[in-house]
Amino acid sequence: MSAVYEQVERAAQAVAAALGARRPRVGVVLGSGLGRFADTLEDMVAIPYGQLPGFAESRVLGHAGRLVAGSCSGTPALVMQGRVHLYEGHPIEQVVLPIRTLILCGCKTVIITNAAGGIRADLVPGDLVLISDHINLTGTNPLQGANDERLGPRFPDMSTAYDAELRSLAQRAAAEIGLRPLKEGVYNWMLGPSYETPAEIRMLRTLGADLAGMSTVPEVIAANHMGARVLGISCVTNMAAGLGGKLSHDEVKQTAERVEKQFVHLLRQTVGLLKSEEL
Ligand code: HPA
Repeated sequence: MSAVYEQVERAAQAVAAALGARRPRVGVVLGSGLGRFADTLEDMVAIPYGQLPGFAESRVLGHAGRLVAGSCSGTPALVMQGRVHLYEGHPIEQVVLPIRTLILCGCKTVIITNAAGGIRADLVPGDLVLISDHINLTGTNPLQGANDERLGPRFPDMSTAYDAELRSLAQRAAAEIGLRPLKEGVYNWMLGPSYETPAEIRMLRTLGADLAGMSTVPEVIAANHMGARVLGISCVTNMAAGLGGKLSHDEVKQTAERVEKQFVHLLRQTVGLLKSEEL
């Protein structure tokens, strides 16, 4: 059998050893420029990715690269402050090793966030959008290769990859903190690291995509494979290619920074509501 499960198990054991009596129930992945949520946890312990077996360290600016455990409004959480992307050259099993580790550590609910370009006309920079579904145009999949049944089934269903109840919960959280109802949309994953061309964005719009990004989908597939429930949140940092000006990582970081306070507030409220859920 493949060594993938053993790698995840080793990483989970290292995390568990560092966490002591903590039992995290909610996993969170923080996207580009959205890392501050981890700093708001109470009673926190941080583990640099470099200290965890198998974890790759991100080389993308704006991604910190540590695992932070702590309590968020009473809900025990385990947070990835930074992630690695397939375009960085890591094997895809290494890209999804951290999310699998979170789930094996007990996080049966995961919140996966990212910065994304807005394709649909009403999605503008600064919008926080709930992901309702995705399109994978990379031609690759984190489950390719031999399947290990200890992780999940060979052919996992993806028809409810983004849990509708969790989206309702996030809408409730948004209302409670005075935000307008959150928009929802379909996220498209292309490899990157170059941004899409305007022609690709026109194609993606025709195909039904609302958001363009370079992450999230492999993690969502791996999480569903393991039976975890997923909430996906995009922060629209820019209009997708051809719909506004030229694209830059600086603009992405600046917009993420501008809405980070609201993003952190929404995330804290949502994770807080999960406390009363069956986790
Ligand atoms: N395209 C792909 N990835 C992104 C974008 C985009 O426009 N903005 C932030 N990440």
